[in-house]
Amino acid sequence: MASMKAVRIHDFGGPEVLSVEDAPFPQAFDDEVVLKVHASSINPIDYKIRSGQHGGGKDQLPITLGRDVSGTVELCGTRAHTLAKGDPIYAMLGRDRGGHSEYVVVKAVEMAAKPREVDHLHAAAVPLAGLTAWQGLFDHGGLAAGQRVLIHGGAGGVGHFAIQFAKAKGAFVATTVSGEDIDFARTLGADQVVDYKKQRFEDEVAEVDLVLDLIAGETQDRSWAVVKPGGIIVSTLAESSPEKARQRGARGTRYMARPNAAQLAEIGRLIDNGKVRPYVDAVFPLKDVAAAEARLENEHVRGKIVLEVVA
Ligand SMILES: NC(=O)c1ccc[n+]([C@@H]2O[C@H](COP(=O)([O-])OP(=O)(O)OC[C@H]3O[C@@H](n4cnc5c(N)ncnc54)[C@H](OP(=O)(O)O)[C@@H]3O)[C@@H](O)[C@H]2O)c1
Repeated sequence: MASMKAVRIHDFGGPEVLSVEDAPFPQAFDDEVVLKVHASSINPIDYKIRSGQHGGGKDQLPITLGRDVSGTVELCGTRAHTLAKGDPIYAMLGRDRGGHSEYVVVKAVEMAAKPREVDHLHAAAVPLAGLTAWQGLFDHGGLAAGQRVLIHGGAGGVGHFAIQFAKAKGAFVATTVSGEDIDFARTLGADQVVDYKKQRFEDEVAEVDLVLDLIAGETQDRSWAVVKPGGIIVSTLAESSPEKARQRGARGTRYMARPNAAQLAEIGRLIDNGKVRPYVDAVFPLKDVAAAEARLENEHVRGKIVLEVVA
């Protein structure tokens, strides 16, 4: 049987459990395609799964990691009528597959045409982080033009998209970042930038309609002070306290981002129109996946870390 290279784990642990090894070549059914992966990016979920912090028991091993891909169609399932070999697409994969691999199956609901104006390395930086930002701001946060939003962690993978999407919508955007990223956040369009290591955001920002919380813990707790009555804290990480929400006359919610082909297509249009730019901090070859994950997990990263699969 034909095989390909994929990044798999056979046990949970540190970066040393990552193994670049032969895996079976995938098959496409119905409206699925087999994608030849040109690039795949790293998200915190990858090292959380690898270290066993993110659900999933040992019975699910081996696991192939990676949720983001950009590449070209290699094979079409029998009902993937609108696609042909060589078409460039990008996608956020479901958790049952991994994109840190030379080929992967992509379902119709997970993919959209790759934005034309960026290469595969930049396109691969987009899907999971971009959809997380989009769904947090608009589906869960209901952000509208003219409203005020505070984005915690604005220089990271999700945050740097959230700043740009919120600005494109016509919102007033405040964000927290560390000092070295102040100019970066401004170039993304943030109206107000707070250095979270030197300033208390509660002293600088007030009366926001929405807090997009990418940090949790005391950052989330302290955020109630800046939310308007009737506003909301939307978190990727932690359920908020119903008691604090009631005291403030506000709401809180936690969500999980999901693949969404229509939203990915909309994000691609914003990229092609020059309204949104994915920022890639560093590119590693697939074989150096352990160094790439360690970089995101332990060091300061601006935007995204990407794996180059086809050089
Ligand atoms: N629920 C979901 O579906 C979902 C989806 C995507 C992500 N997530 C989670 O959401 C979190 C963010 O994801 P990401 O991809 O954006 O991660 P990331 O790329 O690692 O970015 C995190 C950012 O937060 C900043 N930061 C750390 N402590 C902070 C603080 N106290 N105040 C303000 N900023 C702070 C970091 O800056 P410094 O380096 O300067 O500290 C970094 O820029 C992760 O925990 C991830 O697992 C959940």
